[in-house]
Amino acid sequence: MKNILITGGAGFIGSNFVRYLQTAEPDLHLYNLDSLTYAGSLENLKDLPDPSLHTFLQGDIGDSALVNRILREYEIDTIIHFAAESHVDRSILGPAAFVQTNILGTFTLLEAAKNAWAGNYNGKRFHHVSTDEVFGSLSPTDPAFSETTPYEPRSPYSASKASSDHLVRAYFHTYGLPISVTNCSNNYGPRQFPEKLIPLMVLNAVQGKPLPIYGDGKQVRDWLYVEDHCEAIHLVLKQGKDGETYNVGGGNQPYNIDLVQEICAILDELHPQGKPHANLMTHVQDRPGHDRRYAIDITKIHAELGWQPRHDIASGLRATVEWYLQNPQWAQAVTGKEEYANWLNANYARR
Ligand code: NAD
Ligand code: TYD
Repeated sequence: MKNILITGGAGFIGSNFVRYLQTAEPDLHLYNLDSLTYAGSLENLKDLPDPSLHTFLQGDIGDSALVNRILREYEIDTIIHFAAESHVDRSILGPAAFVQTNILGTFTLLEAAKNAWAGNYNGKRFHHVSTDEVFGSLSPTDPAFSETTPYEPRSPYSASKASSDHLVRAYFHTYGLPISVTNCSNNYGPRQFPEKLIPLMVLNAVQGKPLPIYGDGKQVRDWLYVEDHCEAIHLVLKQGKDGETYNVGGGNQPYNIDLVQEICAILDELHPQGKPHANLMTHVQDRPGHDRRYAIDITKIHAELGWQPRHDIASGLRATVEWYLQNPQWAQAVTGKEEYANWLNANYARR
């Protein structure tokens, strides 16, 4: 790895990865291509470990002329592809952007990599960051998702990610493009856009707003601290084999409702406001097609690369809540826009 292109590096996981990689490998030059949708923010890229080795490029992964130029001009040898539309609820209300970015955008990047690296795949890697949601929904007794679990996506978001995964693997089998894929579970940590469960609950609770629990709140996610995820991707880049897929999970699987209770308990301690924050919990209409349970089997990445998560939910959640409490200016910058108010209205007003 010498010249790295990170796509979606102004978003939640991408910006955490930029920080992580600059610390783990201080000599690499990182080029960060992000179109700055509602979910991307330059706030996420403030105070980087080494700004001189980070070049931000604003643009769309679906712009083939731009992507071709970037790969050639900066002699990119490694692509780490995070850019995506990433929120299930938004995919229900507006699926077109998911098809555009997640499927066609990934296709554009793959074509550009194939052309720029044609004839010399040595030392090159296209790493695709995907999700466990491609595997569908588990019953309480089903075994956890492994790398060989059949795909059964059930939302426009997961269907678009599944499609992109298939394209990435097709480029390996058909053209020999050196790819790797990680399918990870729900991430949480600093700088996550407050449309996702954990930051939404923290920021709503601090403002005394209702905490909307979809349905009975007995859905299960496998929570992965973002720094652990970054470490897994880094290991796959360095030691993972071309063409391979690795599942990455946190091993923490509470019911949503218990997770929100835990957030409230941490806030009662760190940010007391008179009444228990849990009083704000409100059951609202469920998400259509809501996947009931996700769980990840990390046997492969543990056995082959020695990875396992360092954070349990107790330590990760506390660090996360502390970060949002300590960074109110970040929250104001990313939620203060009209787009955010419009989103809350579109998704919650009629529930
Ligand atoms: P995010 O929504 O926080 O960030 C996405 C970033 O991509 C934003 O900065 C946005 O501006 C950028 N982007 C969107 N469309 C673009 C386009 N057409 N061109 C260029 N940039 C564009 O997402 P995230 O949570 O950081 O997720 C990153 C990746 O990880 C995604 O591929 C997502 O599917 C995957 N993933 C996320 C989670 C999770 O829990 N957050 C779990 C599993 C997999
Ligand atoms: P989310 O963070 O949107 O991630 P995903 O849908 O990709 O798993 O949601 C996590 C879980 O929390 C999911 O079961 C839906 C639920 N949820 C709520 O109960 N209320 C909310 O307001 C949100 C955003 C999510």
